[in-house]
Amino acid sequence: MINRETIIVLDFGSQYTQLIARHIREQAVYCEIHPYHLSIDKLRSISPKGIVLSGGPASVYAGSSPLPDYQIFKLGIPILGICYGMQLIAFLSKGGKVHPASKREFGSANISIYQQIELFSGLPRNFQVWMSHGDRIDSLPDGFEVIAYTQNSPTAAMADIARNFYGLQFHPEVVHTQDSNLILSNFVHKICGCQDTWTMSSFISETIDQIKSNTQGERVLCAVSGGVDSTVLAILLKKAIEDRLVCIFVNNGFLRKDEPDQVMQTFNQLGITVNYVDATDRFLSCLARVEDPELKRKLIGNTFIEVFKDELETIDHIGFLAQGTLYPDVIESVSLKGPSATIKTHHNVGGLPDNLSFKLVEPLRELFKDEVRKVGTELNIPAPALGRHPFPGPGLAIRILGEVTRERLNTLRTVDEIFIDEIRQANLYDKIWQALSVLLPVKSVGVMGDERTYENVAALRAVTSTDGMTADWARIPHDVLASISNRIINEVRGINRVVYDISSKPPSTIEWE
Ligand code: XMP
Repeated sequence: MINRETIIVLDFGSQYTQLIARHIREQAVYCEIHPYHLSIDKLRSISPKGIVLSGGPASVYAGSSPLPDYQIFKLGIPILGICYGMQLIAFLSKGGKVHPASKREFGSANISIYQQIELFSGLPRNFQVWMSHGDRIDSLPDGFEVIAYTQNSPTAAMADIARNFYGLQFHPEVVHTQDSNLILSNFVHKICGCQDTWTMSSFISETIDQIKSNTQGERVLCAVSGGVDSTVLAILLKKAIEDRLVCIFVNNGFLRKDEPDQVMQTFNQLGITVNYVDATDRFLSCLARVEDPELKRKLIGNTFIEVFKDELETIDHIGFLAQGTLYPDVIESVSLKGPSATIKTHHNVGGLPDNLSFKLVEPLRELFKDEVRKVGTELNIPAPALGRHPFPGPGLAIRILGEVTRERLNTLRTVDEIFIDEIRQANLYDKIWQALSVLLPVKSVGVMGDERTYENVAALRAVTSTDGMTADWARIPHDVLASISNRIINEVRGINRVVYDISSKPPSTIEWE
């Protein structure tokens, strides 16, 4: 285990918890998220330089509200409570009282600072903050003083400077708060005394050392897809274990035009040998006559596992399997708990069954997605691979509504190639989170020349997003849409109509299946 200066965020269920951690890491300080009930022994073993208590939907005075171990206040470590976290500090300390506010406060507010303290160093006396709360502190706990107020919050910030305990009623982690990163930076640097130790180059060298020592001379198998995660994974492994790395790339036949060649070329440029497995026929025949989206996903997932197992038979002496698990999959966050329906079954190169008898190596499990990209930049991954739009494991098969056939795949590939080419030419590719084309299972009437046509409809979807969890449809200029549509109808046989998807997520999803 690597010893790093660490800030701990205890999660009380806020939708912004991950943002707190990401923004602290942007300040070059390592930060981990843990559930609010983290035991005091575990906390002591991490030996954090500071603790942040996140916001959350509960009210501290409700009987079942989430509470941390009270011992955290006795560790002599700086604590920053945000929203619910601040109310917790008040509620759990002698003299503090929290009640429902007569006026709830949501959205922007103007804050005024009574007293310049280190937490607000560099900030003006008045600035904009983002509020989202229904409770307020009516009586300050012993040892605390009010540091700032807004019109509706007489205690918008409080501090016990002797003990280094701070409470903010507003959300410093949200961009709508002016100079939001400065407050978190002041907390971790000036108050907790952290140095700038969390950098991607330090991550790379530490991780390479760790892979070397963990894999103990054994061979490691890594499935690559051409996406940024598996590419970064393979490069780190290559640097750590050289020829003990075995990479495979399974072409399921549902990739974009020329993609298998491009992926192989990228790895060739990177000096990594990849075993290419063309399983197109196997995947296509498993989907024969299948129309149901979930069944498609399940069959593709199962076929991937079968192909993977068959390949394993041909490779000797593998001790470890590399997986591209990222930090959001690892966080045992309260905000992720609770019943959630399966919307879509996701299948990736990482989605392998647990019962394969390998030890796992997961070098990216500490990273957020934006950090993986930064590591990729440091590792000199070619720009097209680094900036590639996300692409789902089941590929074009879940963008062909109805049965997937070779002919329909070819049609969709050509539509997709034109769409992506046009948005690149319009300099929109990097502004769009993801652009995709869908082949619909309906025909419509058209007219070409003097002839009636009765052909397929293609739908185009382009979205803006920061993490794929929510998304809005991209406002592609009408003239760009017009030339995309013209080219598709003129150049793709079998398409006589193009529509543009103007739904946001939620309630729609990004993919159509
Ligand atoms: P949805 O359609 O759920 O997609 O809004 C959110 C993001 O996830 C991608 N996606 C997948 N990625 N395997 C993946 O690796 C999958 O099975 C899968 N299904 C959806 C989707 O492209 C979008 O970026």
